[in-house]
This record gives sequence, C-alpha cells and structure tokens, in this order.
Amino acid sequence: MAEKNLVVANWKCNGGAELVDSYLKAFLALEGTDVVVCPPVIFLTQLQALLRKNVSLGAQDLSTFEVGPYTGDISSEMILECGGTWTLIGHSERRALHQEGQAEILQKLQAANRVGLKTILCVGETLDHRRSGSAEEAVLSQLDILIEANDSTLFDNLTIAYEPIWAIGTGQTASPSDAQSMHARIREKILSLSDALGDNLRILYGGSVSADNCGSFLNEDDIDGVLVGGSCLNVSEFEKIVRICGAC
Ligand code: 13P
Repeated sequence: MAEKNLVVANWKCNGGAELVDSYLKAFLALEGTDVVVCPPVIFLTQLQALLRKNVSLGAQDLSTFEVGPYTGDISSEMILECGGTWTLIGHSERRALHQEGQAEILQKLQAANRVGLKTILCVGETLDHRRSGSAEEAVLSQLDILIEANDSTLFDNLTIAYEPIWAIGTGQTASPSDAQSMHARIREKILSLSDALGDNLRILYGGSVSADNCGSFLNEDDIDGVLVGGSCLNVSEFEKIVRICGAC
C-alpha cells in the first residue's frame, strides 16, 4: 500500500473565475498527502501555479483519439501540455450520461498510458446492485478490462476509485467497513494478477466525502485516499479534508 494518502478534487462541470482564484490562493498540499485537482480542462492552464505548491493537476476525462477531426475531444497530449499529469477515467457520470462502455474505457486507459498520464479508474455499483447483493460482482466486473488488456504497463500509473453510485452527491456514504470490504476485494482481484501490482495499488473511496467523514474512511487498511466531488467546491472544506488525510 502507498505511504501517502491521495486526495483528489473532482470539480465536475462546476467552477469559474471565483473558484479558480480561491484554489490559487489556498495552500493545499501538505506533507503526508498527494493532492490532485481536476477542474474542467478549460481551467488547467490558469491553475498551473498550484504545481509550485506540490499540487498536481488532472482532467476529468480524455479522448480515445490522439489527434484529428474529433470535434470537442481533448487528447491526452493536450492535457499534458496544459500541466495535467492525471486523468479520471470511467466516472459513473460518464458511464451513465455518455454511455461509455468497457471497451471505450479501456481505450481511454490506453490513450492515457501511451503518454504517461496517471489514471484514476472509477468503479461503483448502483443501489439496485447493493440491494440485490450483487454489488461486488458489479464492481469487480468493471475491472475485467484490466485483465483483458493483458498489459502490465497499464498498472504503472493506475489508481482505482471505488465510488458507489448511490453515494455520489446524495449525502449518503458507504459505511467505512462496507467500503473497506469492497476495497479489499478490489485489491484481491489485482493481487491475483501480480503481488507487486496489488500491493502498490492505491484505492480511493468516493461518494459524499466531507471533512467530517473522511477520517473514518482513511482509518481502514485498504482505503488509500479519497475522491471528492461536492465538498471540493468550497476550498476551505477541501483544505480541511487534505489536512485530515495528511494526519491519517
Ligand atoms: P460527491 O463527493 O459530490 O458525492 O461526488 C463524488 C464523485 O463523484 C467524485 O468523483
């Protein structure tokens, strides 16, 4: 397991000049944590000053294409050019609202990996899965692309984020022990590919993370950080989360 907790802010389709400014004024990175901020890519360049404060920048998605006539797409190289070194991939909002399937998600992992972008592959189950007892199956099957790809280099830069879909933006969270048991199953699946891959893999929890609840997740053995949505839109709340994660 990684030594430092990883704290990731996913602004989603939120923010503007004011939020950019409040992040630029904040001191986000602390010893004991790695911090990544994923704004809408249009703000990456403006946020580059954060790099000097040991905060990394990331995108929320990327194109499967490298270059060419793909209107609206943002390539992995463009993310790098704007100072981004990370990208989220397969967020449940992209899976549900943009019909991203497993094949496309794998292509995105490969596109990011080709240029050395660090990837955060998001997985999670619906409330129906959880109620019907098929949550583990639903989550673990989303990892099958990693096995099918048969390319161990995909793991070089990989982080996994477990985000139960029913916990996203709802104020409801998984209990720390339920999250821990899902994280343990995720790690087990990756360990079955290689001990080194599984041991080094960071697995984040996401879904209504706040300053009040993040500590309880990070006390669990297999939870190596948090992916924060709504709470990162208030920079002082996000800074609190970073501080707590640094102390865990
Ligand atoms: P919330 O923290 O708003 O629940 O969002 C979680 C999320 O989807 C982060 O990617």
